[in-house]
Order: sequence, then structure tokens, then C-alpha cells
Amino acid sequence: MDKQKFLITTAIDYCNDVIHVGHAYEKLLADALARYYRLTHEAKNVYFLTGTDEHGTTNEKAAQKRGISTEEHVTEISQKDQAQIDSLNVSYDRFIRTTDSDHVQIAADFYQKAVDNGDIYKGTYEGLYCESCESYKTLTELDENGQCPLHPTKEIQKYEEENYFFAWSKYQDFLLDLIESNKIQVLPDGKRSEMLAFLREGLQDIPVTRPKYKLPWGITAPNDEDHVLYVWFDALINYFTAGSQNNLWNDETFIIHFVGKDIARWHVLLWPAMLQSAGYQLPDTVYVHGFMNLNGQKISKSRGNVIAPSELVDKYGADAVRYYLLKHGPIVEDVDISIPQFEEVYTADLANGLGNLVARTAKVLEKAGYQTKPADYSQYPQTPEMESRWSEYRADQVAILIWEKIRDLDKYIDETKPWELLKSNEVLSAENSNVWEKLTVEIREIAQLVEPFIPDAAAKIKAQFAGTSIASTEGLFPRLTS
Ligand code: MSP
Repeated sequence: MDKQKFLITTAIDYCNDVIHVGHAYEKLLADALARYYRLTHEAKNVYFLTGTDEHGTTNEKAAQKRGISTEEHVTEISQKDQAQIDSLNVSYDRFIRTTDSDHVQIAADFYQKAVDNGDIYKGTYEGLYCESCESYKTLTELDENGQCPLHPTKEIQKYEEENYFFAWSKYQDFLLDLIESNKIQVLPDGKRSEMLAFLREGLQDIPVTRPKYKLPWGITAPNDEDHVLYVWFDALINYFTAGSQNNLWNDETFIIHFVGKDIARWHVLLWPAMLQSAGYQLPDTVYVHGFMNLNGQKISKSRGNVIAPSELVDKYGADAVRYYLLKHGPIVEDVDISIPQFEEVYTADLANGLGNLVARTAKVLEKAGYQTKPADYSQYPQTPEMESRWSEYRADQVAILIWEKIRDLDKYIDETKPWELLKSNEVLSAENSNVWEKLTVEIREIAQLVEPFIPDAAAKIKAQFAGTSIASTEGLFPRLTS
């Protein structure tokens, strides 16, 4: 890749409720890549954006239900969301809120550009709307009960209202070319095919404002003060707000959006058309991940199976949650997670795996009194295979490769039995020194490699193995007690 600046984004979460582990997964996926880029490029050129989507019907209704002002409600939820992702050590550079004053101004200006370009016109919308998706629906998109397949318990709304429409259909051929020629990369491949299939059915223009008398909670449309911007024509622009404010929305920056499968269409088909209309740079890549279920069920409040990321962090530590979700999360297909599986993985890969390897190595090197050169952590010691997996954003596969290296070193220790060398009087013979040196070098490499996944443990191991002699310390991942 020739671009040397990076803008990495996640979807911004609705504020109808505090985020759960499913939402957090996406932040971790983006965080791992941001950390990897900072390790392999100039760290100051990496910008990682996340935040909250605060306008629109769902947020307003949630506030009404609580009997407090919408502003008060979204502020509270936004702060709680931020605390959740902080608990996971997500290293964002900005936590944007769509109520931030710079965004409110920039979104209105963006919309005005589309107006100036002749892509916005007044019309009447008569049709169906799913408030949970904040999305217009056609009959063919509903299930056999006439409900939204993503929100089967929510009633579909019938809207008839005067709106301003965006001339989306005008961009049909532009979008086809963009995706077919991979000028915008849509990953994984299956999602790219899905987007192309949808596009080939034909795009219809969509409303991009809502009348204020129906929905006052939004950004006022600059061409008509009785309208607010439709929530997607506000939320998507958050990327441009933060990007342009940091001089990153240009062709020198590699722009990648991480999103879930339910909102791929907005990012792959609407967002590039909006940018083209307003005359701005397009993103390079949209990575679409699957959904996480819990014990075989969709995670939802009504099912009562919501787990907050911080609950897991309190019990197992941020690194363990990060590792489990990054390695076993829904990076391509939907996956099921469960606490028993998490505990199994924790014990095998972290407590007995990495934790035990570091502990036994440090102990044997300390006993041998081995003296070595101080560590040089300036280069990220990835193999070409790891680099190739990172270039496809497959953090899960990188984790597999790193843990193979961990297992290989464990096997080497079992085979060479360094504790037997310690019993001999010649612990520092040339041949033995090779063993001590290999152990030192490999643990230092592993400490660097795991950093995008488990930054706290990485920092601890790096510090422990930084100097000329290595001292043992207490275990990194305590064994679980039932
Ligand atoms: N506000 C919109 C996004 C606007 S982006 C300009 C939205 N918000 S959301 O809160 O409903 O979802 C935020 C992100 O979390 C989406 O990418 C969504 O796909 C993802 N996930 C929500 N539930 C999830 C799982 N159970 N599993 C994995 N990701 C999940 O959509």
C-alpha cells in the first residue's frame, strides 16, 4: 500500500441503549488494525474514529420512554458507551458525537453541496419504514408476516410525508463501476457480491430529510428550516467531519470503514454516492463483518441476554476479552459466543498458553543468570504470512499464526528441557547460550506481535524482557477458579 496516512472508522452506535459485546466487537476489530498500523507505520499518521449516532427516531423514542429530554438521554448513553469501549482499551483518537457542533455544521454544509449539485429535490414519500433500522423498506424486504426480518418484534411504520429526496438512482452506473472495478474495495468477497446483486436490481431515490413536526430531533436542513436531515444523511457524514477536521479526507489517506452486515448497504452504496455528489474523496475499503450471537440467540434486551463488555472485563480482564472476540468473533460469518467457550479459550491460549510460556521462560533464564543485549523493539517482527493476513484485515487469522509461534516455542522448551541444562555446571557454554538466546529473542518477538490483540500483556512482557537480564514475575493470566 503506498498511502502513508490512515483513517480507520467504526460505525457510530445509536443511543437508544448502551452498547453490548456485539457492538464492542467491531471496535476491537478496528482497534487491532489501528494498533497494527501504528506499529508498522508512523504512529502519528494513524487516526482512529468511533462514536455515537444521536439523532433520529430511535434515540428520541428511548428518551421519551424515560421521560427525560432527548439531549440528556443521548449524553448519558454516549458517556456510558465511551466508558464501555474504554474498559476494553480501545485506542480511538476521537469519540465523535453527531450532536458535536463541528459535525452539525459540516453535515449541513455537505447536504448543501448535494443541493447545489442538483441532487436533492422535494417530493412525497408514501411507504414503509422500520424505525429500528432507521430505514425505508419495500414490501419485498419484509418477511412473510410483513415485519422487518432484522426486527421482527417491531411494528413496521407507514409513512406519508413531504421530504427532500436524494437522486440516488443517478449514481447507479457510477456505483456499479466503483465496486466492479474494485476502486472501492468491499470485503469479504461474499458481501461485495451481495452489494452488486442489490445494485443490479436498481436503486430508487430516497428521502434524506424528515419534516420537523414529525421528528424535531435532528440537524436542520439548510435549504428548508422545517426539515431535519434524515439520520443516515447525518450519521454517515461523521467520517467526513473527523477526517476533514484533521486534514485526512484526501487521496493521501487510506480510509477504511468497519461495519456490520446490517448496515453494509448504506456504507457501500449510499455513502460513496453522497460523497460523489458533494465532490469529496471516496473511501478505499469497507470491511463488513457478521453478527455475534450469544448462546445461539440474537443479543437483545427483550431476550434479556445482553452482556456489557465491562462485565466481562471486570471478571477476566480487558486483554482476555479482546483476545477471545478478535480470534473467535464474527469476522466473516455470524458466530456464536458463550462464556464456557470463552473460559476454555482463556485457559488454553492465555493461562496455559502464553502466560505459562512467559513464566517458565523467565524463570529458567533468571536461574541461568543469562546476560544478553537489551531488546530492540523498533521493528514489528511479523512474518510475510502475517503481513498478508493483515492486508486482508483478518485479525483472527493473524492471531492463529501468532499462537502457532507460541506453541512452537513451548514445544521447543519441552524438547530441549532447559531446566536440565541448569543442573549442569556449564550453563553458559556456547551451545547452551544459543538456547537462552533463542528463548529471549522469541519471547521478545511474541511480546511485540501480540500487541494489537492484548496490549496490556504485551507491555508487561516487553518490559520484563527489555533489559540485559531477565527476572521472573507473577503470572500474566491467573487461572480461573470456578
Ligand atoms: N447508528 C447506526 C450506524 C451509523 S454509522 C454511520 C447503527 N447503529 S447500531 O448501534 O445499531 O450498530 C452499530 C454497529 O454495531 C453496526 O455496525 C452493527 O452492525 C454492529 N452490531 C450490532 N449488533 C451486533 C452484533 N450482535 N454483532 C456484531 N456487530 C453488531 O447501525
